Amino acid sequence: MAVLAPLSFPWPGETMVSRVRHVFAPEEVESRADLLVIDATVETLWGARLLWNTPRVVIQGGEDCKTLSNLQKLWKAFSEEGINRESTVCVAAGGSLCDLGAMAASTWMRGVRLELVPTTLLCMVDACLGGKTALNAHGAKNQVGTFHPAEDITICSAFLSTLQERELQAGFSEAVKTALIGDPGITDCLKNRDFDGAVFRCLSVKGGIVIKDPHDRGIRRVLNLGHTLGHALEMLLPLSHGEAVALGMPAAARMGGGETFAREIAHVLSSFGLPVTLPRPVSVEEVLSLIRRDKKTGSAGRTWVVPRGWGDCSLVTITPEREEKLLEGALRVIRP
Ligand SMILES: NC(=O)c1ccc[n+]([C@@H]2O[C@H](COP(=O)([O-])OP(=O)(O)OC[C@H]3O[C@@H](n4cnc5c(N)ncnc54)[C@H](O)[C@@H]3O)[C@@H](O)[C@H]2O)c1
Repeated sequence: MAVLAPLSFPWPGETMVSRVRHVFAPEEVESRADLLVIDATVETLWGARLLWNTPRVVIQGGEDCKTLSNLQKLWKAFSEEGINRESTVCVAAGGSLCDLGAMAASTWMRGVRLELVPTTLLCMVDACLGGKTALNAHGAKNQVGTFHPAEDITICSAFLSTLQERELQAGFSEAVKTALIGDPGITDCLKNRDFDGAVFRCLSVKGGIVIKDPHDRGIRRVLNLGHTLGHALEMLLPLSHGEAVALGMPAAARMGGGETFAREIAHVLSSFGLPVTLPRPVSVEEVLSLIRRDKKTGSAGRTWVVPRGWGDCSLVTITPEREEKLLEGALRVIRP
């Protein structure tokens, strides 16, 4: 097995570069952090193998960690450890705690240097790159956030050996999303359980897009494929983020009229063990009440990301009247 070549993504208009490196074992992760924020499960399973000697703040990861009180807990730790503009904070966790820890790093003294060590597949293939930070607030996902990219990202797929199957599948979902957006070959890596290959191909696609539109005003919005409906389903039903996105993708294809392609996407997702039917029926009204809070709503209507083929997605603005009708058809594709 070869060490994969590092990837490097320069941020437009800034001197900042996000670098992605690959190591085989946690002991090889190098860091210049002054403080490590670490997921409690990761600390228990892997903490002793992360060798650098910095103070640690341990927080239980998972969606529920993205709260204001945990943000305050991190600010308190930063204060106690004397974190300042010259300091570096590292987060070793899945996407939830990386979102929260990155937000803490982004807001402390208007921004301190950030490193990420993603420990879930979803975070490796997607959440670790691109600079989005987030908290959930007022019943909506990622309602509060900033842009604050990590300068160093270290990929070590050994962490995946302790991940529960359901969490692994959540990563498959975001990786299939990236295959639909820009690199169909990613699905072969997943079939062969070549996680390093899948991660590097996913990050190449995502990085290539985010550096063209770092603040999510144009082309970057294709990365939201499956998320418009997915976020609503995640709020309504007992689904993980990845499962909800998996249900959102065939539905998005159907929103664009592609019933056959919707079924093909569903078939690929189910081959990775992902759900392709809802755990219970949901109504258009239930979904719309949540989707209306979506950040991607403009005056002409909402922008949906519609997959038309592998590696071929477009942004389509749909008026409220058409949206209701199309959504009915989309929910039919994934009905129980
Ligand atoms: N910022 C972004 O661009 C971006 C992109 C996609 C998703 N996200 C966010 O990512 C979050 C989902 O993240 P996730 O799927 O990585 O899961 P997660 O961070 O919620 O973690 C899921 C569970 O796995 C555990 N875990 C983490 N690493 C482990 C390991 N190596 N072994 C065993 N258990 C481990 C955690 O403790 C937690 O219980 C969502 O909040 C989503 O909004 C952010």
